[in-house]
Amino acid sequence: MKLAVTGKGGVGKTTVSSLLAHAFKALGHSVVAIDCDPDSNLLAAMGYPHPETVKPLVELHALIEEKMGVKPGSTGGMFRLNPFVADIPDRYAIDIDGIRVLVAGAVKKGGSGCYCPENSLVRALISHLLVDDKTDLVLDMEAGVEHLSRGTIRTVDSLVIVVEPGLRSVETAFRVKDMAADIGLTRLIAIGNKIRSDYDIDFLRGAMKGIELVGFLPYENRIREAEIARHSVAKASDEIQATIQNVVRIIEERAAQRP
Ligand SMILES: Nc1ncnc2c1ncn2[C@@H]1O[C@H](COP(=O)(O)OP(=O)(O)OP(=O)(O)O)[C@@H](O)[C@H]1O
Ligand SMILES: [Mg+2]
Repeated sequence: MKLAVTGKGGVGKTTVSSLLAHAFKALGHSVVAIDCDPDSNLLAAMGYPHPETVKPLVELHALIEEKMGVKPGSTGGMFRLNPFVADIPDRYAIDIDGIRVLVAGAVKKGGSGCYCPENSLVRALISHLLVDDKTDLVLDMEAGVEHLSRGTIRTVDSLVIVVEPGLRSVETAFRVKDMAADIGLTRLIAIGNKIRSDYDIDFLRGAMKGIELVGFLPYENRIREAEIARHSVAKASDEIQATIQNVVRIIEERAAQRP
């Protein structure tokens, strides 16, 4: 299963990424989760005690030189287009509850035109993991839609759009849908997060016409408190666990139906 989690800033992408990764792990799958947000915090959300000590892949100069054949930051020169990346998860991932977590780091902006070696290495790694059928992949994307233009994630089984009850995150969801369509990606689902009432659910059902909502996660103090206490958000309530398990079932059914 290959998922990319996206949505407006602060809606709960990282929380949902962590929950999904744990749900896949609980099914006995081999799981890699990649923090693709330049403002990374997936490790923290998963309860890793020292996230600040983990260097993002784009800052691992020796690795970039080893894999790409040129020093990071070089432009215009020739570097490998198909570096061997299969060993990177085992060498560099942080193991959290059996989930291998990688931090991609701040991939410089520049749309599809940025072909520096560090960006290319991250792209090659994601592309490799997207076709590696032994590994489930969860990509915690940065807020907004710009990353979609790079197209690396075109082949995900599902783009998971997190929305909260409110117009702004819904507007972002539709921008995500349009951008995804531009790169030929129409497999998208949405998860409502921070739900406080039936009114919130009704609002999202009405506002999200055209994007399938597959689950609603309640607003839970426990999640906020976990963040403050630096504990794993995966210790959410049974209701949240059950909803996420159901979402995973839906995603798997969809994937099985794909030609
Ligand atoms: N269901 C929930 N109940 C309560 N608090 C939540 C819930 N989901 C997320 N939060 C809180 O909302 C904040 C944002 O969550 P999170 O970091 O997962 O969002 P994000 O979309 O990844 O944010 P960013 O765009 O900054 O990466 C965090 O403080 C988190 O603890
Ligand atoms: Mg996040």
